[in-house]
Parts: sequence; structure tokens; C-alpha cells
Amino acid sequence: MKDIIIFDTTLRDGEQSPGASMNTEEKIQIALQLEKLGVDVIEAGFAAASPGDFGAIKRISEQVKNSTVCSLARALDGDIKAAAHAIANANKQRIHTFIATSPIHMEYKLKMTPQEVIKRAVDSVRYAKTFCDDVEFSCEDAGRSDIGFLKEILDAVIEAGATTLNIPDTVGYRLPQEMGAIIKTLQESVKERAILSVHCHNDLGLAVANSIESIENGARQIECTINGLGERAGNAALEEIVMTLKTRKDVFSDYHTNINIKEIYPSSKLVSTITGIEPQPNKAIVGKNAFAHESGIHQDGVLKYAQTYEIMNAKDIGLDNNSLVMGKHSGRHAFKDKLCSLGYSLSDEEVNIAFDKFKVLADSKKEIFDDDIRALVSAEIIKISEVFELVTLQLSDCNPGGVPSAAVTIRHDGKEITDAAIGNGTMDAIFKVIDRVCGAEGRLKEYKVDSVTQGKDALARVIVKVVFEEGKPAILGHGLSVDTMQATAKAYIGALNSYISMKEDLRSLTKGI
Ligand code: KIV
Ligand code: ZN
Repeated sequence: MKDIIIFDTTLRDGEQSPGASMNTEEKIQIALQLEKLGVDVIEAGFAAASPGDFGAIKRISEQVKNSTVCSLARALDGDIKAAAHAIANANKQRIHTFIATSPIHMEYKLKMTPQEVIKRAVDSVRYAKTFCDDVEFSCEDAGRSDIGFLKEILDAVIEAGATTLNIPDTVGYRLPQEMGAIIKTLQESVKERAILSVHCHNDLGLAVANSIESIENGARQIECTINGLGERAGNAALEEIVMTLKTRKDVFSDYHTNINIKEIYPSSKLVSTITGIEPQPNKAIVGKNAFAHESGIHQDGVLKYAQTYEIMNAKDIGLDNNSLVMGKHSGRHAFKDKLCSLGYSLSDEEVNIAFDKFKVLADSKKEIFDDDIRALVSAEIIKISEVFELVTLQLSDCNPGGVPSAAVTIRHDGKEITDAAIGNGTMDAIFKVIDRVCGAEGRLKEYKVDSVTQGKDALARVIVKVVFEEGKPAILGHGLSVDTMQATAKAYIGALNSYISMKEDLRSLTKGI
């Protein structure tokens, strides 16, 4: 049996997806779920990128027990040192250092000669080895690099101590047969001296096919993300690779992964609920329609014998068709089990708070589904400490010709502050009054509202992305309520709280290294 190491980079390359930024608490939830999923290596972030990233990797390292925790680092001493400090408390640690090897990157981006690149790669791997045994080296843009040069640099970094050699198709350029040929050639050169890995991007929609072809040609580590999240068109989707190996056991009988496939759907849902990025409905394995049969002929066939139109069983990946949860009479214990099955790792105190909120929800909503619970936990529980908390929101009537206004009471530092504002519309009035009370000046970049489940009494989930500081990325906020405007106010305040916590991380962590 050949073991395929699953290296998940949802928290690093996945987070580079436009708009996918997550706060530390959210990243910890995802990391713990990735561990439950059986991922071998979790790339928890890029420690030198920001104090927020550094802090999240550090916290993840303290909590994850079985998976290796990895930080990315450019081939620079400062980056490597930051990565080493961030993962220092992990049970199993890896430093992943990289430098570009394609002519176009070396000439125009790095402005370095190939020999200078080799020297930098070797020095970096040697330096990383002073902190940790497990060192991965990546040739960025390997897909467009000269194969002879790749062999030369890989030989040099093996000599310096690299244990995993990653071949990224950074811009998603290669065709499956080309990727397979590159891996075959490199495998013949590297032999057993190190593990060969691939990291495929999806610019031409070929990331999964390229990863599979690489496995067949000698790659033993696959870098991928949940839901195929990632820079531009994304990375290879973990669920598609794993389910291809499993479903086509006839072809891949020799290969084994440690993935617990029952955790695929909970992982996908956790990532999409936290990031606000839903997979497209027809996305393989985890899209809303992946197991739906629309046509009468198909429905009839599936009812008679499922395998007529199904090559996988939805239950195998942990999909339970959004099962009806409990009502207001459900107990705390059953609720705790449900949270665990949905992929949340919460403290007893958090479970108690979630349970109280669930009871309030059960009073206003007849039927509560898994998605309601997911939305509730994401919006109300996995959030950083609330610097500002919405106590009440009152809106004026929006009669034609009238002036929309919003009045809020917000708790801050134990005190309640009440104020009101008028605006060009109700939402504008809400944002204005919150800004005034909190001393903020947010610029709304994105606003999304949907109903979490079906029914007239469905919960409204609002996702906002707000820029609080010019030149800085937009911050995500979630709000949940049976009332859309309440959800809007909560989402905006949530984004503001995240922004404040990131700034605090920055203050405390710049002292760290
Ligand atoms: O796509 C890429 O080249 C990367 C490397 C940093 C591994 O993400
Ligand atoms: Zn990448």
C-alpha cells in the first residue's frame, strides 16, 4: 500500500481566496475539524505575513494534537524564524519554505540568477533545519520551470536536509499528462531521498486531474483545500481527490489516505459557513446539487436501485440532507452531540451559551435544521471577544417621503450608549449610528443576505465585508436573526469587533518575536 499524505492548505492558500479572511477563533475551529477529518499536515498560515497569522498559527499549534502543523515561510531568515516560533508548541512541526524557480519569476520578480536562487534555497533549508527536522521546500512556479534546473535545485536542498519536495503548478498551467511527466522525471531523480509533493492550482479547471495524475507518477503528498478554496480559481479540492481515490478503488487499489470521509461534508460546511463562500451548486461532492436528482427518469432509477445514477453514497461523506434537529424540548446533551457532529469543538461554557441561544431560537422558529445551528454557532459563538455588543435596535417607519432613522443601544466596557441617526435608507441609518457610537468609519464593500433554511420564519443570515482602514483588507462579519435589519446591525458590529481584535493581536504580538 502506498500512503498518500494529505496536506491541507485551506488556512493558508485557501485564506488567500478573495474575501476568505478568517479570525483566529474561526481558524482554530477549522484546524480542529481538519484534524478530525484525518488530514496529515495542516498548513496553518504564513507566520511572517502578519501578526494575526502568527498568532493564529501559534494557537493552532497549541491545540492540534495529531496532525503536523506547518507554517509557510519565504526563503528568508526572518520568515523562517517567525514560522519556527509560531509552530514551536506543536506536537508535530513542519517549516515550509519556498522560492520561485521559473525563468519568468527569477528574472522579473526575484531579479536573481539561477545559481543565486539555489544558494538561497540551500541556506534557507539549512536554517530551517536548525529549528525543526521536518522541512518542506517548494519550487514556486515549478509548472513553468526548466526540468533540468528543478532536478539541480532539488538535489541541492535534499543535501541541505529537506524532507519533502513540493512541485507547485502555481498558475494552474499544466495539463494532466504534462504534470504526470514532470513528476515521473523528478521521481526518477529524487528516488527515496525525499517525499515528492504536488500543489496544483485550478486556473484551467485541471487542479484535481493534475493531482491525480501526479499520484500515479510518484507524488506521495498532495496539497489541497476544502471546497477547492484558494488564490484566484482556487487549489485542488481535497474532497474531490479523496473521493476519486476511494470511488475508483479499481484503479487506485494501491493507494491509501488517512481521511475519514464521513467528515468531508461537515468540513465543507464549516468552511463555507465561516468564510461565507458557498461552493457552486454543481460543485462535485459538496455542491448543493451534487447528490440531487431532478429529472423524473433519474429519480425513478435511483428509487429502484441507487447505483443506476449514483457512483457515491451521500451518507458516506456525512451528508444527511440537512436533517431536522430538535425543537424546544430537546436536551442539552443531545444539543452538544449535534454540535460535535457538525464539526464544532466548543468549551462547556460555549456549549451552554449556544444552548441558551438555541432555546431562544426554538421559541421563534418552529423547525430547526442543521444549517440553523451552523449559522447560529458561526454568528454568535465562534467570535472574538465582543468589544461592542448590540443591545437594542429600533427603526422608524419607512413611509414614502419619510426620513429613515435608526436608534441603537450598544454595550461597551460595561456601559450602555444610546444614539440615533438618519440615513438615505434604513441600512445607511444603521451603519451611521453604529459608526458614531463606536467611533468607527467603516466602508461597506459587500453585503449579502440569505435565509438559512426554508420557511417563512427562516433565519436571516447577513454577511458584510467592511473596510475600517484605508489600504487594509475588508473584514468579514456575520449576523443572524429572524429579523433582517437586526442581523445587519449584528454583522456590522461583528466585523468591527474582528477589526479591533486584529489590531490588538498586532500590538501584543509585535512584542512576541
Ligand atoms: O502556489 C504556490 O506556488 C504556493 C507555494 C507557496 C507553495 O502556494
Ligand atoms: Zn498555491
